[in-house]
Amino acid sequence: MIPIRNSLPFATLLLLLLLATAKARARPNEATGEASLYDEADNVINADTNTLRNHLATVPKGKLVQFINIFCGDCQRFAPTFKDVARDLYKWQRVLSIYAVDCAQEKNVQICRDFQVLKTPTLRYFPPVYTGNGTGIDIPTVKPNEIKDLLAGYLAKEMNWNLLYFDPLRSDSNAKTTIGDHKCPGQAAEYIALVLQPKGSNIGRDTIFELLPYPAVVVRLVDDAQIFANFGLTPQGQKLAILDLAGNVQALKAAQETSQAYAASIAEYLAQKGHTPVPPLPTTVAPKVRTVRNKEQQAILATVLRGGPAKIYRADLEQAIDKLLHIELPKADLIQGSNLTALRDIIAVLRHLNPLNNNGQELLTNLHGFLLPINRLTGSEFADLVKSTEKKLEGNVFKAKRYVGCIASRPFLRGFTCSLWTLFHYLTVAAAKPPYYLQAGSVLSAIHGFAKHFFGCRDCADHFLALAERKHIDRVTDHDAEILWLWEAHNEVNKRLAGDTTEDPKFPKIQFPSKKYCPACSNENSHWNRTEVLKYLKIIYDNKNLSPYGLPTTRGYP
Ligand SMILES: Cc1cc2nc3c(=O)[nH]c(=O)nc-3n(C[C@H](O)[C@H](O)[C@H](O)COP(=O)(O)OP(=O)(O)OC[C@H]3O[C@@H](n4cnc5c(N)ncnc54)[C@H](O)[C@@H]3O)c2cc1C
Ligand SMILES: *[C@@H]1O[C@H](CO)[C@@H](O)[C@H](O)[C@H]1NC(C)=O
Ligand SMILES: *[C@@H]1O[C@H](CO)[C@@H](O)[C@H](O)[C@H]1NC(C)=O
Ligand SMILES: *[C@@H]1O[C@H](CO)[C@@H](O)[C@H](O)[C@H]1NC(C)=O
Repeated sequence: MIPIRNSLPFATLLLLLLLATAKARARPNEATGEASLYDEADNVINADTNTLRNHLATVPKGKLVQFINIFCGDCQRFAPTFKDVARDLYKWQRVLSIYAVDCAQEKNVQICRDFQVLKTPTLRYFPPVYTGNGTGIDIPTVKPNEIKDLLAGYLAKEMNWNLLYFDPLRSDSNAKTTIGDHKCPGQAAEYIALVLQPKGSNIGRDTIFELLPYPAVVVRLVDDAQIFANFGLTPQGQKLAILDLAGNVQALKAAQETSQAYAASIAEYLAQKGHTPVPPLPTTVAPKVRTVRNKEQQAILATVLRGGPAKIYRADLEQAIDKLLHIELPKADLIQGSNLTALRDIIAVLRHLNPLNNNGQELLTNLHGFLLPINRLTGSEFADLVKSTEKKLEGNVFKAKRYVGCIASRPFLRGFTCSLWTLFHYLTVAAAKPPYYLQAGSVLSAIHGFAKHFFGCRDCADHFLALAERKHIDRVTDHDAEILWLWEAHNEVNKRLAGDTTEDPKFPKIQFPSKKYCPACSNENSHWNRTEVLKYLKIIYDNKNLSPYGLPTTRGYP
């Protein structure tokens, strides 16, 4: 039987009370779902499973979509750059819309799977006419200039749309024929700029993009200076000219041989004629970093900070498994071969060592049994299997639905990746206890397979795989060594990330455990005593020392 504690700690009581009142109140973010790194003030539209396809199919522009995982450090580090790019490309709004999709939200697993987004951040381009075929074109860079250049190339391939003309003038074009080209309904341009674009150069193409905020002008490319003669200009050294609809032509000079300088020269001419550009995106005040406001989270944060790193919370282990089963694992499109082996390994480890209640045990046992005989399945089949099994168990598996020890003092930090580390350490410690369900090394091997095939955080996975190879993850031969391998690996990651922008100031990245919490773990020279470290890890990550704090009830946990 399960002992029910009759004297819950005060903090738990407070939490329960807060939970009861919190339910009645609508949370500020409920309408839009979870918090996002971007908003429309950045020229980025947040899209999801329900809206992305519709945007792609109906918006008659090129579309840039960034798929992210909110928990992935690289996505967070890339966010300021992407905002700059998006704000800059507001001037291309006639031809380009920009979207962000957070694959870490359960509701977006389907769209991220459909578009085969395995690692984030992922940038994709979709053409103005997208019929639902294909997953977009990968933009394999996070450098602003390269992103812009690739986008310009793709957009320019959509020849002559949206009143943009990327094909050069004919060799016999003149003022009359060129003006004729532009006398069509919907054409608002009063001027036609002629820009020399030598072979192999994109200067004219880029001038077209620079001048998008000026509906009063269209730009035509000239690939041979000789053509300027057809317009009554001297071709020698001619690079830039402007034509009005009455047929008057004027040569222009630019300060430099750049598309920006060309655009500036044309813009100056237009300004003299009283034409101003569509204004740029207003410089909004950078949104304030919201601190954790909600009372429930404040209570958790205060309690966790008081408890220190020696306390490991069941709620985090639950969350890690919950998110693995519902989000990270089913995001794969097709699971077979080595990645099916990886999935089986993770489920096998969890089945034997998980800290869940009886329903949780049953869920994992079912999943394990299901995976054994098959040789392929899709992520969506896996998701359905998890859901249908949970339904049979009356949805009574995951209760916390919140991070506790992994709570962050600021949005977007900690959370899932923190809970994963916590779970991984917990599993290595559990594996080292009789009756030794698993061979030594099984937990590390499962973590390795997860990182290789399923972890949506690209830099995390890449770093971890490199570290695993360097530190010979496959040469661990006993359970204690397995615990210490992961401890040491995690400390290496902590060292690399210490002081990073993704570090939560309330939870600094230290070489774990600190002297304060385990004085015996290191000596005066900060040399580890591995015997003591092992002892310490075995205590704090032990099942019977887990804290139930933050779970809606302590019932149902052996
Ligand atoms: C496999 C993996 C690889 C990752 N690689 C990267 C990466 O390359 N780049 C990146 O930006 N982020 C990476 N992350 C995420 C990053 O490590 C943190 O999870 C994230 O920054 C949140 O940090 P945190 O402060 O919550 O503490 P975390 O590092 O997540 O640790 C969680 C908790 O584990 C305990 N702990 C800390 N160190 C140890 C230890 N050595 N042994 C035992 N317990 C410990 C502490 O109680 C700590 O609060 C990775 C995560 C994982 C799971
Ligand atoms: C997808 O492309 C195929 C040909 O490549 C075409 O027959 C089919 O109609 C397209 N589907 C959609 C939804 O456009
Ligand atoms: C699993 O492997 C198959 C090929 O065997 C591949 O098509 C699929 O994309 C892989 N999935 C993952 C999640 O790596
Ligand atoms: C580590 O601590 C143990 C006590 O647990 C002690 O016996 C041993 O000498 C210490 N080892 C080192 C290298 O200091």
